Parts: sequence; structure tokens; C-alpha cells
Amino acid sequence: MTPRPVTPGDEAPRTSEGRFDVPILPLELRDLCFEAGGRRLIDGLSLRIEAGPRTIVLGPNGAGKSLLLRLAHGLLRPSAGAVLWRNRKVAGAGRGPRRQAMVFQKPVLLRRSVAANLEHALSLHRVAGAERRRRCGEALEATGLSERAAQPARSLSGGEQQRLALARAWALKPQVLFLDEPTSALDPAATRTVEEIVQALHRAGTKIVMTTHDLGQAKRLADEVVFLHRGRLVERAPANRFFREPQTREAQAFLAGDLLW
Ligand SMILES: Nc1ncnc2c1ncn2[C@@H]1O[C@H](COP(=O)(O)OP(=O)(O)OP(=O)(O)O)[C@@H](O)[C@H]1O
Ligand SMILES: [Mg+2]
Repeated sequence: MTPRPVTPGDEAPRTSEGRFDVPILPLELRDLCFEAGGRRLIDGLSLRIEAGPRTIVLGPNGAGKSLLLRLAHGLLRPSAGAVLWRNRKVAGAGRGPRRQAMVFQKPVLLRRSVAANLEHALSLHRVAGAERRRRCGEALEATGLSERAAQPARSLSGGEQQRLALARAWALKPQVLFLDEPTSALDPAATRTVEEIVQALHRAGTKIVMTTHDLGQAKRLADEVVFLHRGRLVERAPANRFFREPQTREAQAFLAGDLLW
């Protein structure tokens, strides 16, 4: 089912309680390093991410795209360097600001109904009562899941499960949404639907930071590209320029399909 075109109509980001929100962007990664298994997997990466443009992170397998998103989201603690949200340092893993959300390649869903998954996420953010029901209904409609509300979440199809993960983000109205290859397991129709939801979130003011292996998708969605190779930031450019005239040898090889890792 295709979601209806949505205009959430929120003038400014709000907290989960509905109050006007304090902006958390820009996000600044400063000399970020991450080491594991005796290898430096993210190597002195500095990057400033502003509100607005959709940022797509590209790079071959193992470049460090997922690690970068997890470090930025606060799921991993850097070995060195800093993650700053609006100039404020984040102390460690899991303690990042609440006004961000992440969608993974494989959605993590509770063994409950579709609606209960959304309600649970909202209750963690202390949204209760009529506001919770309203947000739940809105998120289900925006993602075309209204008719699935009572169904066990884990019995949804793959595409529907990913839509539920996006519905959860929709309901929480994050300022920043990190998406790590959200469509890599989906067929073209489900992929299109996910892209439409991502676009709607973008139009509603959520900053999108997303990885993908699908260059067609990157061209459809990207305003700017951050290109990684072997844990380093190799190139960053407006999407048009990156795809038309990549500046580095690595990016040229990647776009030609010749950079395998
Ligand atoms: N905990 C860990 N211990 C050891 N190596 C790790 C760990 N986590 C990630 N790596 C390695 O770090 C590198 C970067 O991983 P990452 O998952 O960020 O790559 P990616 O760019 O997302 O790749 P893909 O396109 O395949 O998703 C890979 O070589 C991976 O094997
Ligand atoms: Mg990855």
C-alpha cells in the first residue's frame, strides 16, 4: 500500500511532549577514531553536518559507513576524537541527545502489535494519552500501515516492517534521522515506498543522514554526498557535482564500479 502524501505541518521541531524544541544541529565529528580488533576502522574523521540538506554517506564495503552512523548516534564510543552536538560534547555511548533516531537495515521490532510498537516508543519519550494516540494514528497513516495496526509486528512483511521502523521515527519527530541501508533487503516497490517516507520526513524538517549501496537511490535522494574509504573521509560534495565530476581517484573508481573495498 502506498502511503498518502503527507505534510505533517509542524512549523518547527518539537519535543516529544510537543513543546518547541531546542535545535541539536549542527553535528560535528572532530578527529574521530574508532579502533577494534587491533585495527583503526575510523581514522581521524572530521565532518560537520548541518540542518537541511539530505546527506548520503557512500563508500565501498567496509569503508566505515555503518560505524560512522553508530558513532554519530552514540551507539559506539569513539577511541579518540569527539562527537559534538551544537558545540556540546557527548560523554559516551548511549548518552546522546534524545532528538535523534536511527533506522537499521533490519528493523528491530518488539513482539507486540504494530500499534503497540509505536505506543511503546512514544511512552519511552513520555508521550501519553490523547497525544500518543494522535501521533500513533498519524504515523500509521503516513506509512500506509493503518490497516495493520492490530497485527503482530513480527508477522509483517519485510517492507512493512521497515515502514513500521519509519513510522516509529515519524511518531517521535526527531530532528535527525540516521538510516543505515534501510532498503537493502527490499524489492523495488517497497524501496520506493520507503524513499517516499524519507522524503516526507525531510520535507517535515527532519535532517536525513543515510547510507545506501544503491547509486540510483543516492542520486534520487542526496543533496550532498559524504564519501568514505577505509575509514577516512575522502570526498564531500554537493550531490550533482559528486556524481558529475568526482574529484578524487577513489570516488571516480567507486562510481565506475571499480572500487570494491
Ligand atoms: N567490532 C568490530 N570489530 C572488528 N572490526 C569491526 C568491528 N565493527 C566493524 N568492523 C570492521 O570495520 C570495517 C567498517 O565496518 P562498517 O560496518 O562500518 O562498514 P560499511 O562501510 O558499513 O560496509 P558495508 O557497505 O558492507 O555495510 C569493516 O572492515 C568491519 O569488518
Ligand atoms: Mg554498513
